[in-house]
Amino acid sequence: MNTTDKHLQKLRAEAHQGGGEARIAKQHEKGKGTARERIAALLDPGTFSEIGAFVQHRAVGLGMEGRRFLGDGVVTGAGKIEGRPVYVFAQDFTVLGGSVGEAHGRKIAHLLDLAYQNGAPVIGLNDSGGARIQEGVDALAGYGDIFYRNVRASGVIPQLSVILGPCAGGAVYSPAITDFVFMAEGTGTMFITGPEVIQAVTHEAIDAQALGGAGVHAQRSGVAHFTAPDEDTVLAQVRWLLSFLPPNNLTPPPVVASEDDPQRATPELATLVPDDPQQPYDARDVIAALADSGEFLEVQRAYAENLVVGFARLAGQPVGLVANQPAHFAGVLDIAASEKGARFIRFCDAFHIPLVTLVDTPGFLPGADQEHNGIIRRGAKLLYAYAEATVPKITLILRKAYGGAYIVMGSKHLGGDVNLAWPGAEIAVMGPEGAVKIIFRREIAAAADPAVERETLTREYRETFANPFVAAARGYLDDVIAPEESRARLIAALEMLRDKRVDTPKRKHGNIPL
Ligand code: HXC
Repeated sequence: MNTTDKHLQKLRAEAHQGGGEARIAKQHEKGKGTARERIAALLDPGTFSEIGAFVQHRAVGLGMEGRRFLGDGVVTGAGKIEGRPVYVFAQDFTVLGGSVGEAHGRKIAHLLDLAYQNGAPVIGLNDSGGARIQEGVDALAGYGDIFYRNVRASGVIPQLSVILGPCAGGAVYSPAITDFVFMAEGTGTMFITGPEVIQAVTHEAIDAQALGGAGVHAQRSGVAHFTAPDEDTVLAQVRWLLSFLPPNNLTPPPVVASEDDPQRATPELATLVPDDPQQPYDARDVIAALADSGEFLEVQRAYAENLVVGFARLAGQPVGLVANQPAHFAGVLDIAASEKGARFIRFCDAFHIPLVTLVDTPGFLPGADQEHNGIIRRGAKLLYAYAEATVPKITLILRKAYGGAYIVMGSKHLGGDVNLAWPGAEIAVMGPEGAVKIIFRREIAAAADPAVERETLTREYRETFANPFVAAARGYLDDVIAPEESRARLIAALEMLRDKRVDTPKRKHGNIPL
């Protein structure tokens, strides 16, 4: 080995050491991997090519001259997941707390440019103390450059953010702009202002996990789409999600060979979904029965549980599933469910993933709380997202589809391509009990036995209106199908719509009610 080679080896070894052994040991003690260990766990073995390993900051003052590290606290490059190209950056907490300065920010921005230009997904592994305090405005500029590129790449390439340590201050806005946020439980945190600032300003005492840990963001804020107890499981989730996604908006999603018979009958659905519309069941069981091999990757599982969204495959074709969840609040639509559904639908639409909607909902949730928090504006997002989406839209009404919820949940009127219903589906302005109370109030009051009269009128109403055949007669439904035909018919619809093309109006962009 000549001197030049030795020098190169030495520098490479130095870059691989990050902030040094002691800091690496500290990282491991916290149950966290190093940036390079994480990249190795994420990518197919031996596929990583690094970019910018020798980059250093040029800051001076506040002791920064003596604190230069090769790579400047972020490892960037390209690799493969299941043989498909991806770009990845991993912040190195062992180097200046993974903080973002000018050089660090530039490395990420350059990576985002490469991912955007080459049409490949980008995955950010975040573990950082935020803007590097010693670099002042250069650190803020680094973040601004990242945000700008995240926005430009939105809807062009899938962008995934993985939170494996602190993510504080304005730094949270890069993950927030990206498509999906993954968090490691116990180590990942996200907040705009940390516990110390909160204590100083509002005198509220709260620790970092309670403020912005994975549990809070999965259940309460809805910021996190996926969480897992350890880093390896989080990274496995990232790989799983990518298996459903195309690399960019100009490429269709990857269709795989399915071992599950496309004609497989689903007779279990007839008993799995009780005839009595008041009886709950788990929408996930229905999805598992329909999907190839029962595989379903649920998104935001713990947030707005009254609506289930996620990815599955039908005859090998990735689809986005949206289903009311009767097991939770009877599957009612509220603000959280509307926003969750709308965001998911818009993602699927941006990346050519057909939408399959399973409807069973009593409607929008009534109440002053919902009204005052903006169900009008925020519920409208779901309606907007369905109407705006031009991907194939297939809707199956299982039981109840009442009122506004009938229209919103992928109805023919919002551009549904294939709309189906089971024979027991009830489609009406409102449920029979409520409707009869309103339109036959006088008749019920005057009856010899009001309870019997109410029951008779309710039965008559159900027979006349609350069935799918009125909607089918108008062409609002394309067909009424038996539960056991469901999988085969959804697959047939997908095949029929495979090459769907829709011209959209010429405009800069619509104005979704944000
Ligand atoms: C420079 C930083 C840093 C930062 C941490 N470090 N954050 N250096 N700028 N923002 C350094 C520490 O000095 C320390 O260096 C090393 O990283 C590890 O930090 P520790 O505090 O020892 O680690 P830990 O106890 O695990 O605590 C991690 C932490 C804490 C929770 C992230 O460091 C922290 O609160 N940092 C500040 C977070 C913050 O408020 N950031 C600014 C947010 S505002 P040594 O040399 O001792 O090992 C922001 C604006 C962005 O980001 C705006 C975008 C629009």
